[in-house]
Amino acid sequence: MKKFTNETIFEILTYLEVMISSIQPAESIVFQIPNPDKGRQHYSDSLLDINGLPCLHHSWKAWGDLAEILYCRMLTPKLIDENEVILYFQKLDRSDSFHRVKLQDKREKYGTDSHFSTIRKNEEPAFLFAYLQALRQVKILDRCSILDLGINSGDEFDLIKTIVDESNYRQMKLIGIDHSPSAIKKAEVLFPEENVTFYCHDINHLQALELPRADLIISIGTLQSPNINFKPLFMSLIQNHLTPNGAVILGFPNCRWIDGEMIYGAKAPNYNFSEMSLVIKDIYFCKKYLQQHKFRVTITGKDYLFLTATKIGGQ
Ligand SMILES: C[S@@+](CC[C@H](N)C(=O)[O-])C[C@H]1O[C@@H](n2cnc3c(N)ncnc32)[C@H](O)[C@@H]1O
Repeated sequence: MKKFTNETIFEILTYLEVMISSIQPAESIVFQIPNPDKGRQHYSDSLLDINGLPCLHHSWKAWGDLAEILYCRMLTPKLIDENEVILYFQKLDRSDSFHRVKLQDKREKYGTDSHFSTIRKNEEPAFLFAYLQALRQVKILDRCSILDLGINSGDEFDLIKTIVDESNYRQMKLIGIDHSPSAIKKAEVLFPEENVTFYCHDINHLQALELPRADLIISIGTLQSPNINFKPLFMSLIQNHLTPNGAVILGFPNCRWIDGEMIYGAKAPNYNFSEMSLVIKDIYFCKKYLQQHKFRVTITGKDYLFLTATKIGGQ
């Protein structure tokens, strides 16, 4: 078995890249490393003496990052003794992704029979924490009408329901819109409350619903869809669907869902690696537009980037 001691991450990465390219999805690369717990409180340039050998310390986070970068999942490590550990990097099946699915009824790409519907974003800490932070930033407890575009089966309302106390929640008006009939049907079952309404509707034609203005608009992973004309729709949301002191939370995916894992980095058209020009361009457009309209804007998050905007001098 390969044993790493004082190799740099460059040397380890180069070795693992070659090994992983030679195995099939679901197969694993097995190798031995110094127990990262031995070097805690050290940075990665620290040489430690482990069983009489000079060893370079790399943290568990560094090994986790390496697995993700190499499109692998890290399986449960095995402790040899307190100084050494065996790691297993299992190769992900990159063909197993909902991003590749082509459907007759495009509205059902994210419907209840889709691969996407098996994802629970709220169980991914990197998503949950960034979304929670955005909800706190817009003072969710003080918001009384919320409009969510691309709600799917309602995950975004689920967290709001969890963090707002029952009587406050019942007083809020929540409206969710999605063009997937099956996702909206599921959302209606999950949120039977009278204060929650769902519409199976195309958000390109939002005006037709004649909705009241909302004091919080949320849209996650939706406005950049190919069927949506991002900039005009975004500007119309601010001009026609938001109250004067309203707030906005937009979530932009910067990850892909592959073989059961959320993998950092969005797939970009024309590149076989993740490339961020498009997402940065769109976020920057929204930020500039909102600042011109007297909003305070922050950009946070990692696997999902969150733009959060509140009115200067507002709530
Ligand atoms: C990537 S999913 C994101 C769903 C949810 N916000 C989340 O983050 O889990 C995009 C959602 O937007 C919906 N969608 C895409 N284009 C739409 C349109 N023109 N009108 C209404 N819904 C649309 C899809 O059906 C899907 O549920």
